Amino acid sequence: MREVEHPGGSHPATLILGIGELTTNAPEAVGVDPVVDPTGVIRDAALLLDGGRVAWAGPESACADGVEAALGRAPDRVVGVEGRAVVPGFVDSHSHLVFAGDRSAEFEARMAGRPYAAGGIRTTVAATRAASDDGLRAVLRRHVDQALAQGTTTLETKSGYGLSVPDEERAVRLAREVTDEVTFLGAHVVPPEFSDDPDGYVDLVVGDMLAACAPHARWVDVFCETGAFTPEQSRRVLEAGAAAGLGVRVHANQLGPGEGVRLAVDLGAAAVDHCTYLSDDDVAALAASWGGEAQGTVATLLPGVEFSTRQPYPDARRLLDAGAVVALASDCNPGSSYTSSMPLMVALAVRETGMTVAEAVWAATAGGARALRRDDVGHLAPGARADVVVLDAPSRTHLAYRPGVPLVHAVWKDGHPAR
Ligand code: NIG
Ligand code: FE
Repeated sequence: MREVEHPGGSHPATLILGIGELTTNAPEAVGVDPVVDPTGVIRDAALLLDGGRVAWAGPESACADGVEAALGRAPDRVVGVEGRAVVPGFVDSHSHLVFAGDRSAEFEARMAGRPYAAGGIRTTVAATRAASDDGLRAVLRRHVDQALAQGTTTLETKSGYGLSVPDEERAVRLAREVTDEVTFLGAHVVPPEFSDDPDGYVDLVVGDMLAACAPHARWVDVFCETGAFTPEQSRRVLEAGAAAGLGVRVHANQLGPGEGVRLAVDLGAAAVDHCTYLSDDDVAALAASWGGEAQGTVATLLPGVEFSTRQPYPDARRLLDAGAVVALASDCNPGSSYTSSMPLMVALAVRETGMTVAEAVWAATAGGARALRRDDVGHLAPGARADVVVLDAPSRTHLAYRPGVPLVHAVWKDGHPAR
């Protein structure tokens, strides 16, 4: 990357020139017809960052006037990216990064034919309870850094490997040190000490555990699945979380069909995640949730899970054709999907779930933002957070076309060079 340095403050005004293909996800703001291209691509583009926000985006040929109007002076820095593609920072709306231990043996056994089951979560619970705060912090930071290196600038993460009041409180508190998007998932599985009394565990989750965790969290989540929590138990957890001021998200329909998706839509959840086994009614409910004034429920697909568990992939085409809003996320966790790579999610979604490249890139950026009910990230319209990924490729298509290749050339987060 060629860089011309100018003196500047803590948020230098930075002009990025020579962008071969700029995905803005903000067609109206940049004069692109949203019906023709909902991802608002500008070719031979320039992008101005100032004060941690996008100040201007447009064709490079219009950049002198754009910078004058938006900044009224010369930028502090000018960076040339030599024809590379630029996309908004990835928004990973689903991960489980507060954990300790290793489950590679379980993965190996699965690849030799053993099925995935929710019970493996308990292995990680034992290791997480035994870990020190600093041990958990180190794991968290390592994974957040790895995600950033792959272009993730907004990341949600969950508790769910503590499953006692102090261990869950610790998990959300530590998670809050690395992100604002913290989810309380005390209802991940029933811990061994409650195996004879699952409803007693739900009492604890909606009582003392929620009270201890809610101050550190923005969201509540539940694993609504055979082997985890029933729809009735899930509803209790989600309603209690909502009453405590948390937004609702749900893990559902991962291992088989069930009522979780409809429960999520009923409760106005921001997202329901996995969505691998969907009935026609589930798909219709997800699509219809976007019909009114209020924001609907995003169907978040986690194709890293199907890759790592050898389950059938979800059908994104069916959801998109019905009018549902789809996001992609990594679900990075030590059991079902131990990868934080959003570029890999794009590649898997295109190869395996029926998405076009444009849909998959939108889902991994703007879709993730919708799933977190955020309007400041996932796009590059003026006013958006200056979270920018420069790909070492002439087009975003390379994310799917060159799977496994480190294509992230540079990242700005909040207007600061982060890689
Ligand atoms: O999202 N589905 C539930 N929880 C995780 C898996 C966690 C684990 O296996 O440790 C998931 O896939
Ligand atoms: Fe998950």
